[in-house]
Amino acid sequence: MAENTPLRIIIVGAGNMGRRWLAIAEKSPAYDVVGVVDIVVDGARAAADELGRSDVPVTATLAEMLDTVQADAVANVTIPAAHVDVTGLALERGLPVLSEKPAAATLAESIALAAASEVSGRLFAVSQSRRHNSQLHDLKRRAVPLGQVGIATTEFFKAPHFGGFRDEMEHPLLVDMAIHPFDSARFVLDADPVAVYCEEYNPSWSWYAGDAAATAVFEMTGGVRYIYTGSWASPGAETSWNGSWRLSAEGGGATWNGDDDPTSDPESGPSGERLAYGGVSESLHAFADAVNTGAPFSGEIHDNILSLAMVEAAVLSAQTGTRVLIDDVLENARTEAIGAAVDDAVRAALEAWGPAGEHLRTYSSRLVVSAG
Ligand SMILES: NC(=O)c1ccc[n+]([C@@H]2O[C@H](COP(=O)([O-])OP(=O)(O)OC[C@H]3O[C@@H](n4cnc5c(N)ncnc54)[C@H](O)[C@@H]3O)[C@@H](O)[C@H]2O)c1
Repeated sequence: MAENTPLRIIIVGAGNMGRRWLAIAEKSPAYDVVGVVDIVVDGARAAADELGRSDVPVTATLAEMLDTVQADAVANVTIPAAHVDVTGLALERGLPVLSEKPAAATLAESIALAAASEVSGRLFAVSQSRRHNSQLHDLKRRAVPLGQVGIATTEFFKAPHFGGFRDEMEHPLLVDMAIHPFDSARFVLDADPVAVYCEEYNPSWSWYAGDAAATAVFEMTGGVRYIYTGSWASPGAETSWNGSWRLSAEGGGATWNGDDDPTSDPESGPSGERLAYGGVSESLHAFADAVNTGAPFSGEIHDNILSLAMVEAAVLSAQTGTRVLIDDVLENARTEAIGAAVDDAVRAALEAWGPAGEHLRTYSSRLVVSAG
């Protein structure tokens, strides 16, 4: 495909986020929306109609849509439980995928999808929208002149009454929310997780059935410690949705309250530089660029799995009361994925990986796969 040719994209999932993605893609010259899929097919129709696109075909399944239209890419904005099937089918049919986080409902499923991306030679990109925050990028820029960062902290204190599934989840904060700061910490520190000790707890007044609060201490590569303390049951003096950040480096410190421009002491750089789009919009434009040109995508599946592993390892640590090694969690997930694989090529690819952590870190440091 020539550069700047609009990418013919199928949007799968027309819920809250799917409608946002659809509106961004419809407005962007980088995309031509050629189909909308939702198991609630009336919802898909309504979402397309709302944008004045009653000409766009809608179906209940991605398989039906792929039989109907020619497409260059698939956007997966379904619920986490459906991610593995939708992304797996798109890759199998030779199409690159941009998916909402999490890559899949489990680490093992995500690892299987990384192998499926290798087998198909197509990009599987995960949109971690908060990674594309201009102020987070500024925090990272400010840290560089301060020298080696040794300690990073995030405090997150909110009190949302969601109702619905989050109120009943076993690990609502760690599983549904913590992927954002964990992924951002990897980005800011340019470091990968090595081990974690985590405790989960539920304040006595919490309205959540599961543990709504947690503290995790991660050892990151280079010996850096990343400490996360969060709560979803903390009314009053709340932090921003991005949490409140502090980086402590050899030559000074940098802070970010998650809403305003970061600061550093000593002053180490101008604030105010902005990404072209930011958030989900940045993901969609970066994905089009990656597919068209082969440019690296920040959040390519092999890299993204290292953030997901932080979540799964933190949960395991809290359950077992032990310090958990990230490479052990990744290797167990690879074994599980091999056992569950139904596609021979995917199973063979996973068997050929060798130790999962090493494979993922090596792969994520290389260029992402282009759609060709
Ligand atoms: N980045 C963020 O800040 C952020 C915020 C909210 C949600 N999310 C993520 O976005 C995704 C979607 O969340 P949402 O809030 O839009 O959920 P939602 O429930 O509003 O929408 C999901 C839609 O997917 C459809 N669907 C389910 N299974 C399907 C399948 N197999 N094929 C086609 N359609 C299917 C449902 O019918 C529904 O319309 C989730 O992965 C969620 O974690 C990210």
